[in-house]
Amino acid sequence: MVTDEKPWWVGGTIYHIYLRSWVDGNDDGVGDLYGAREQLDYLAWLGVDAVWLSPTTPSPNTDWGYDVSDYLGVHPEFGDRVALEAFVSDARAHDLAVVLDLVPNHTSDQHAWFLEAVEHPDSNKHEYYVWASGTKDGHPPNNWVDATGSSAWTWHSTVGKYYLHNFLQSQPDLNWWCDEVHAEFESILRFWFDLGIAGFRIDVAHGLYKDFDLRDDPPTTDPRDLSSHFGLVEAFSKNRPEVHQVYRTWRALAEQYDPPRLLLGETWTNDFDRWADFFGSNDELQLAFNFRFFFAPFRAPALAEVVDETLKRVPQGCTTVWSASNHDVSRFPTRWCENRPERVRAAMVLLATLPGTLVLYYGDELGLGDVELDSDELRDPMTAGVTGASFLRDRARTPMVWEPDGNRGFTRDDATPWLPIRRDPGIDVRSQQENLFSHLHLTRSLLALRRRFDLSDPRNYRLLSVDDTHWSFAVGDLLVMANLSDEPRDQATSGEIVLSSNPRSSLGLGGRDSEPLAPWEVVVAVSART
Ligand code: GLC
Repeated sequence: MVTDEKPWWVGGTIYHIYLRSWVDGNDDGVGDLYGAREQLDYLAWLGVDAVWLSPTTPSPNTDWGYDVSDYLGVHPEFGDRVALEAFVSDARAHDLAVVLDLVPNHTSDQHAWFLEAVEHPDSNKHEYYVWASGTKDGHPPNNWVDATGSSAWTWHSTVGKYYLHNFLQSQPDLNWWCDEVHAEFESILRFWFDLGIAGFRIDVAHGLYKDFDLRDDPPTTDPRDLSSHFGLVEAFSKNRPEVHQVYRTWRALAEQYDPPRLLLGETWTNDFDRWADFFGSNDELQLAFNFRFFFAPFRAPALAEVVDETLKRVPQGCTTVWSASNHDVSRFPTRWCENRPERVRAAMVLLATLPGTLVLYYGDELGLGDVELDSDELRDPMTAGVTGASFLRDRARTPMVWEPDGNRGFTRDDATPWLPIRRDPGIDVRSQQENLFSHLHLTRSLLALRRRFDLSDPRNYRLLSVDDTHWSFAVGDLLVMANLSDEPRDQATSGEIVLSSNPRSSLGLGGRDSEPLAPWEVVVAVSART
């Protein structure tokens, strides 16, 4: 039954847990479902609406779960089906929805489908993957490049053909021109939706279909284009329009559930036309990550412009996502804010007051930045040792910091965390819970504010003013005034100030004041008409 009620994610906050790195419940140095279940109280206290767990399915871990060997299972490192169901049901008791990660672009080369495809080239499983003969002179069929910058094709000597892998050799791409692949994924969706999973974040959502004729990708003209990849534009190896029919079908399926299930796409593009297409006529993805915003410079004019453009482009009836950190890129405190606390706080206020769905990455609420790691500590095969890798992803995947000392509450002190934990003093949950002026308390206040005021409708955004260092906007009755500079700024504030990013703000909360905004201060006021 579908009701007219607003779905939970509209205006909601989703907390992204990189499960290996969040809490270790069985003392092996790897985060898991047992540990995560113990910290549901924390998430409820923080005030989020849902969690998104990075892949929980079995995997040989060549890409830490993004190489799936069984779409219906649970990785033994994280627990088992019982542990997952217990997590989901406890989460529900805490009013938290659970979103899982679905990887439909490729499987592991250890998935039963690929093993059969190789062993029985005349079986239907062979058609599940993308195979091709090389050129006459013995080269791969085209110029496509994988995630390490090598050819995206690997010769399979048993089969006597090349197979396609847009990421690692161990991640063969699925062939979405094959109807049975569609049927498989529809039943995978149903399986998890029936179990009460609230939705899926869809990995590489733009990539499923490849050009049927396997045409060469053209050279890049703009290296800032997110479809640019080692000098080529992924015009044929990914980003094909046929993918939309997949999402129309999945959306119809998601709508058969009560409440409807969420499809949140990793839509890796900075082209707003292509981004907007993922919503279809509000009959495809309900949410699509906005990487144009993600990678905007942290400067008032650039942010105001990308926000304005985003909100103009969200199709009628749809909503947008604001997020600035994830497990693939540099965390925003480092990337945007040079880890300077006042800037990090300013960024958090902006992120949380824009109208749409907020997706936080674990640690964002503490102001956690990237962690410096030595080369012998790196664990990510996709970036460690890869020439041309844009970012060493391990730096954004280090364990959550719960406590000030030892293994920081992530795992027992005598266990070895899978990635090192190194943090600055004060960046841990316990210290910040005890300090009412902390980034954590600021985040919590912001999430409470999001519940109090309706931040769901993109049409409620109004740009009030912007210049080189300053940006102010209204969202319904909220007024947000940001000074993104090292200098104080005179700002006529109107309405009742309810929050400032600056813990020592000289602006009287609850009152009106004509004091200037401090450097990197963002204040939120409620307009007089409320
Ligand atoms: C997505 C994931 C990333 C993974 C890749 C291949 O971009 O976020 O972590 O390596 O897809 O699955």
